[in-house]
Amino acid sequence: MNKLAVMISGHGSNLEAILKAGLPVGIVIADRPCRGLEVARAAGVPCECIERTNFTSSFDRDGYTRRVLDVLVLEKATHVAMAGYMTLFSGAMFDCYKDNIFNTHPSILPSFPGAHAVRDAIAYGVKITGCTIHVATAARDKGRILLQAAVNVYEGETEEILHARIKGIECLLYPRVLRQQMNIP
Ligand code: GRF
Repeated sequence: MNKLAVMISGHGSNLEAILKAGLPVGIVIADRPCRGLEVARAAGVPCECIERTNFTSSFDRDGYTRRVLDVLVLEKATHVAMAGYMTLFSGAMFDCYKDNIFNTHPSILPSFPGAHAVRDAIAYGVKITGCTIHVATAARDKGRILLQAAVNVYEGETEEILHARIKGIECLLYPRVLRQQMNIP
């Protein structure tokens, strides 16, 4: 049976949308204490905080990835949805989940990859940005694109407001893409 693991680091709006859509979420994993964990608890979904405390270059990425993988395997997760997860995994994760691990990113890739996509789009002065739902790979923000949607950037709009509007679209689209990828009617 299909079982989705959702990976979070922040507010958890995408997690809320995924849960609301009725997708079979078996486990939620966070890399830090965050509101998304409260969302999981409130929904009665098992969750675990596998905290990343080391943000230096000596971070043991492979060791961390293997700790997460142990939980995913134990929980029998068949698919993984990264939903604002801010830690990059080592190759072991993508070897294991291959075409069944997904990400949503708040820009039209390949424009503005990385952790500050909304800020970077505003700084560049683009008039249209958006979101990209893609297969996650070891090369960050470079996996096969599954769906994109455009969002206008309005004059003088702050990063916070624009990001909230983009998230609104992600929350609509990500659950739909996941449903398709998991072959759930
Ligand atoms: C989303 O915009 C996602 O694309 C980005 O982080 C945000 C996560 O928001 N990587 P939330 O935690 O789902 O509210």
